[in-house]
Amino acid sequence: MRLIKTRTADEFAGAAADVIAEQLRRPQSVFALPTGNTPIGAYAELVRRARAGLVSFATAQIFNLDEYCGLPLADPHSYAAFMHMHLIAPLGLSERQARLWRGDAPDLEAECRDYETALGACGGIDLCVLGLGTNGHIAFNEPGSAWDVRSHVVALSPSTRAQYERETAGSREVATHGLTLGIRNLLEARRVLLLIAGAHKSAARDALYRGAENVDWPVTSLLRHAALTVIELCESADAP
Ligand code: GLP
Repeated sequence: MRLIKTRTADEFAGAAADVIAEQLRRPQSVFALPTGNTPIGAYAELVRRARAGLVSFATAQIFNLDEYCGLPLADPHSYAAFMHMHLIAPLGLSERQARLWRGDAPDLEAECRDYETALGACGGIDLCVLGLGTNGHIAFNEPGSAWDVRSHVVALSPSTRAQYERETAGSREVATHGLTLGIRNLLEARRVLLLIAGAHKSAARDALYRGAENVDWPVTSLLRHAALTVIELCESADAP
Protein backbone atom coordinates (compact mmCIF):
# COMPACT_ATOMS: atom_id res chain seq x y z
CA MET A 1 0.00 0.00 0.00
CA ARG A 2 1.24 3.45 -0.90
CA LEU A 3 0.11 5.92 1.78
CA ILE A 4 0.08 9.67 1.22
CA LYS A 5 -0.74 11.77 4.28
CA THR A 6 -1.90 15.32 3.67
CA ARG A 7 -2.46 18.17 6.09
CA THR A 8 -4.94 20.51 4.41
CA ALA A 9 -8.05 20.10 2.29
CA ASP A 10 -6.23 21.71 -0.66
CA GLU A 11 -3.27 19.37 -0.35
CA PHE A 12 -5.65 16.40 -0.08
CA ALA A 13 -7.61 17.46 -3.18
CA GLY A 14 -4.40 18.17 -5.12
CA ALA A 15 -2.87 14.79 -4.27
CA ALA A 16 -6.03 12.96 -5.35
CA ALA A 17 -6.24 15.01 -8.56
CA ASP A 18 -2.59 14.16 -9.27
CA VAL A 19 -3.29 10.41 -9.20
CA ILE A 20 -6.33 10.81 -11.47
CA ALA A 21 -4.40 13.15 -13.80
CA GLU A 22 -1.59 10.61 -14.08
CA GLN A 23 -4.10 8.00 -15.28
CA LEU A 24 -5.67 10.52 -17.68
CA ARG A 25 -2.40 10.75 -19.59
CA ARG A 26 -3.25 7.31 -20.98
CA PRO A 27 -5.91 7.54 -23.69
CA GLN A 28 -9.20 5.66 -23.24
CA SER A 29 -8.77 5.46 -19.48
CA VAL A 30 -11.70 3.95 -17.60
CA PHE A 31 -12.54 5.29 -14.14
CA ALA A 32 -14.93 4.17 -11.43
CA LEU A 33 -15.67 7.24 -9.31
CA PRO A 34 -17.22 7.93 -5.92
CA THR A 35 -19.75 10.45 -4.70
CA GLY A 36 -19.87 12.00 -1.23
CA ASN A 37 -18.14 14.95 0.37
CA THR A 38 -14.68 13.40 0.24
CA PRO A 39 -13.93 13.71 -3.52
CA ILE A 40 -15.55 17.13 -4.09
CA GLY A 41 -12.28 19.07 -3.75
CA ALA A 42 -10.45 16.69 -6.09
CA TYR A 43 -13.20 17.00 -8.70
CA ALA A 44 -13.09 20.81 -8.47
CA GLU A 45 -9.31 20.68 -8.90
CA LEU A 46 -9.64 18.42 -11.96
CA VAL A 47 -12.19 20.81 -13.50
CA ARG A 48 -9.79 23.69 -12.83
CA ARG A 49 -6.92 21.79 -14.49
CA ALA A 50 -9.10 20.78 -17.45
CA ARG A 51 -10.14 24.41 -18.01
CA ALA A 52 -6.47 25.41 -17.88
CA GLY A 53 -5.68 22.75 -20.50
CA LEU A 54 -3.56 20.72 -18.07
CA VAL A 55 -5.65 17.54 -18.22
CA SER A 56 -8.19 16.19 -20.67
CA PHE A 57 -11.08 13.79 -20.22
CA ALA A 58 -11.69 13.75 -24.00
CA THR A 59 -11.22 9.99 -24.35
CA ALA A 60 -11.98 8.96 -20.76
CA GLN A 61 -14.91 6.84 -19.66
CA ILE A 62 -16.42 7.12 -16.20
CA PHE A 63 -18.65 4.80 -14.18
CA ASN A 64 -20.41 5.64 -10.93
CA LEU A 65 -19.61 3.29 -8.09
CA ASP A 66 -23.09 3.11 -6.65
CA GLU A 67 -26.61 4.54 -6.46
CA TYR A 68 -29.68 4.52 -4.28
CA CYS A 69 -32.45 2.27 -5.59
CA GLY A 70 -35.60 4.11 -6.58
CA LEU A 71 -33.94 7.37 -7.59
CA PRO A 72 -34.09 8.36 -11.26
CA LEU A 73 -31.04 10.00 -12.87
CA ALA A 74 -32.68 13.41 -12.63
CA ASP A 75 -33.45 13.22 -8.91
CA PRO A 76 -31.32 15.88 -7.19
CA HIS A 77 -30.45 13.40 -4.41
CA SER A 78 -29.21 10.71 -6.80
CA TYR A 79 -25.51 10.01 -7.14
CA ALA A 80 -26.03 10.48 -10.87
CA ALA A 81 -27.09 14.09 -10.22
CA PHE A 82 -24.03 14.55 -7.99
CA MET A 83 -21.76 13.36 -10.79
CA HIS A 84 -23.50 15.63 -13.29
CA MET A 85 -23.03 18.63 -11.03
CA HIS A 86 -19.41 18.05 -10.05
CA LEU A 87 -17.86 16.48 -13.16
CA ILE A 88 -20.03 15.70 -16.16
CA ALA A 89 -21.48 19.19 -16.74
CA PRO A 90 -18.38 21.24 -15.84
CA LEU A 91 -16.13 18.99 -17.95
CA GLY A 92 -18.67 18.78 -20.79
CA LEU A 93 -18.54 14.98 -20.87
CA SER A 94 -20.82 13.34 -23.41
CA GLU A 95 -23.54 10.88 -22.40
CA ARG A 96 -21.49 8.14 -24.01
CA GLN A 97 -18.58 8.86 -21.65
CA ALA A 98 -20.50 8.43 -18.42
CA ARG A 99 -22.31 5.26 -17.42
CA LEU A 100 -24.38 6.01 -14.34
CA TRP A 101 -26.52 3.55 -12.46
CA ARG A 102 -30.24 3.82 -13.24
CA GLY A 103 -31.58 3.68 -9.69
CA ASP A 104 -35.14 3.51 -10.97
CA ALA A 105 -34.52 0.67 -13.45
CA PRO A 106 -37.62 -1.57 -13.48
CA ASP A 107 -35.43 -4.69 -13.33
CA LEU A 108 -32.47 -4.08 -11.01
CA GLU A 109 -30.83 -7.43 -11.75
CA ALA A 110 -30.90 -6.60 -15.47
CA GLU A 111 -29.41 -3.19 -14.66
CA CYS A 112 -26.50 -4.96 -12.91
CA ARG A 113 -25.97 -7.21 -15.93
CA ASP A 114 -26.02 -4.17 -18.26
CA TYR A 115 -23.49 -2.42 -16.05
CA GLU A 116 -21.16 -5.41 -16.23
CA THR A 117 -21.55 -5.54 -20.00
CA ALA A 118 -20.67 -1.85 -20.30
CA LEU A 119 -17.62 -2.32 -18.06
CA GLY A 120 -16.49 -5.32 -20.08
CA ALA A 121 -16.93 -3.44 -23.37
CA CYS A 122 -14.52 -0.75 -22.08
CA GLY A 123 -11.92 -3.33 -21.07
CA GLY A 124 -12.43 -2.98 -17.32
CA ILE A 125 -11.55 -0.29 -14.80
CA ASP A 126 -8.11 1.32 -15.00
CA LEU A 127 -8.43 3.44 -11.86
CA CYS A 128 -11.07 2.87 -9.21
CA VAL A 129 -11.39 5.83 -6.83
CA LEU A 130 -13.12 5.14 -3.53
CA GLY A 131 -14.41 7.05 -0.56
CA LEU A 132 -14.84 5.36 2.80
CA GLY A 133 -18.03 4.85 4.77
CA THR A 134 -17.97 5.44 8.52
CA ASN A 135 -18.75 1.74 8.97
CA GLY A 136 -15.90 0.75 6.63
CA HIS A 137 -18.03 0.32 3.53
CA ILE A 138 -16.56 0.93 0.09
CA ALA A 139 -19.08 1.87 -2.60
CA PHE A 140 -22.20 0.22 -1.07
CA ASN A 141 -20.40 -2.94 0.02
CA GLU A 142 -21.56 -2.98 3.60
CA PRO A 143 -19.97 -4.83 6.55
CA GLY A 144 -20.33 -8.59 6.20
CA SER A 145 -20.88 -8.48 2.43
CA ALA A 146 -19.22 -11.10 0.22
CA TRP A 147 -15.95 -10.15 -1.41
CA ASP A 148 -16.30 -12.30 -4.51
CA VAL A 149 -19.31 -10.63 -6.13
CA ARG A 150 -19.51 -8.07 -8.90
CA SER A 151 -22.36 -5.57 -9.57
CA HIS A 152 -25.33 -6.30 -7.33
CA VAL A 153 -28.30 -4.96 -5.39
CA VAL A 154 -27.56 -4.47 -1.71
CA ALA A 155 -29.65 -3.86 1.42
CA LEU A 156 -28.36 -0.66 2.99
CA SER A 157 -27.12 -0.77 6.58
CA PRO A 158 -28.80 1.36 9.27
CA SER A 159 -25.82 3.77 9.33
CA THR A 160 -25.93 4.25 5.55
CA ARG A 161 -29.68 4.82 5.73
CA ALA A 162 -29.11 7.41 8.44
CA GLN A 163 -26.57 9.15 6.15
CA TYR A 164 -29.19 9.16 3.38
CA GLU A 165 -31.71 10.69 5.75
CA ARG A 166 -29.24 13.47 6.56
CA GLU A 167 -28.46 14.06 2.87
CA THR A 168 -32.13 14.33 1.95
CA ALA A 169 -32.99 16.29 5.12
CA GLY A 170 -35.86 13.88 5.75
CA SER A 171 -37.56 15.14 2.57
CA ARG A 172 -38.34 11.66 1.25
CA GLU A 173 -38.74 8.05 2.18
CA VAL A 174 -35.36 6.53 3.06
CA ALA A 175 -33.98 4.21 0.37
CA THR A 176 -33.65 0.66 1.67
CA HIS A 177 -31.46 -0.71 -1.14
CA GLY A 178 -28.61 0.37 -3.34
CA LEU A 179 -26.93 -0.66 -6.58
CA THR A 180 -23.20 -1.06 -6.37
CA LEU A 181 -20.08 -2.40 -7.95
CA GLY A 182 -19.04 -5.41 -5.90
CA ILE A 183 -15.75 -5.83 -4.09
CA ARG A 184 -14.68 -8.16 -6.86
CA ASN A 185 -15.05 -5.31 -9.38
CA LEU A 186 -12.99 -3.03 -7.14
CA LEU A 187 -10.24 -5.63 -6.75
CA GLU A 188 -10.23 -6.26 -10.52
CA ALA A 189 -9.46 -2.59 -11.23
CA ARG A 190 -5.89 -2.10 -12.38
CA ARG A 191 -5.28 0.54 -9.72
CA VAL A 192 -7.24 1.63 -6.67
CA LEU A 193 -7.18 5.02 -4.98
CA LEU A 194 -8.83 5.24 -1.56
CA LEU A 195 -9.58 8.70 -0.16
CA ILE A 196 -9.97 9.07 3.60
CA ALA A 197 -11.10 12.32 5.23
CA GLY A 198 -12.89 12.98 8.48
CA ALA A 199 -12.32 12.08 12.12
CA HIS A 200 -15.50 9.96 12.04
CA LYS A 201 -13.72 7.57 9.64
CA SER A 202 -10.92 6.77 12.10
CA ALA A 203 -12.22 3.34 13.19
CA ALA A 204 -12.53 2.20 9.56
CA ARG A 205 -9.16 3.73 8.71
CA ASP A 206 -7.51 1.99 11.66
CA ALA A 207 -8.98 -1.36 10.60
CA LEU A 208 -7.25 -0.90 7.24
CA TYR A 209 -3.96 0.23 8.75
CA ARG A 210 -3.91 -2.79 11.10
CA GLY A 211 -3.29 -4.77 7.92
CA ALA A 212 -5.56 -7.76 8.61
CA GLU A 213 -8.48 -8.71 6.36
CA ASN A 214 -11.82 -8.63 8.18
CA VAL A 215 -15.23 -9.01 6.51
CA ASP A 216 -16.75 -6.72 9.13
CA TRP A 217 -14.61 -3.92 7.64
CA PRO A 218 -15.07 -4.13 3.84
CA VAL A 219 -12.28 -1.60 3.30
CA THR A 220 -9.79 -4.24 4.45
CA SER A 221 -10.51 -6.21 1.26
CA LEU A 222 -8.31 -3.62 -0.46
CA LEU A 223 -5.30 -5.12 1.32
CA ARG A 224 -5.50 -7.80 -1.39
CA HIS A 225 -4.87 -5.25 -4.12
CA ALA A 226 -1.30 -4.98 -5.40
CA ALA A 227 -1.67 -1.37 -6.61
CA LEU A 228 -3.47 0.44 -3.81
CA THR A 229 -2.83 4.11 -3.05
CA VAL A 230 -4.39 5.67 0.05
CA ILE A 231 -4.58 9.42 0.47
CA GLU A 232 -5.54 10.58 3.92
CA LEU A 233 -6.44 14.02 5.15
CA CYS A 234 -4.95 13.93 8.63
CA GLU A 235 -6.48 15.82 11.49
CA SER A 236 -3.90 18.22 12.90
CA ALA A 237 -3.36 16.09 16.05
CA ASP A 238 -2.01 13.10 14.13
CA ALA A 239 -0.60 14.89 11.08
CA PRO A 240 2.70 13.49 9.77
C1 GLP B 1 -21.76 6.81 0.56
C2 GLP B 1 -21.32 6.23 -0.77
C3 GLP B 1 -19.86 5.83 -0.74
C4 GLP B 1 -19.05 6.98 -0.17
C5 GLP B 1 -19.47 7.24 1.25
C6 GLP B 1 -18.65 8.30 1.97
O1 GLP B 1 -22.12 5.82 1.42
N1 GLP B 1 -22.09 5.08 -1.14
O2 GLP B 1 -19.45 5.48 -2.06
O3 GLP B 1 -17.69 6.65 -0.24
O4 GLP B 1 -20.81 7.65 1.21
O5 GLP B 1 -19.22 9.57 1.86
P1 GLP B 1 -18.49 10.89 2.31
O6 GLP B 1 -17.34 11.09 1.41
O7 GLP B 1 -19.52 11.97 2.19
O8 GLP B 1 -18.06 10.69 3.73
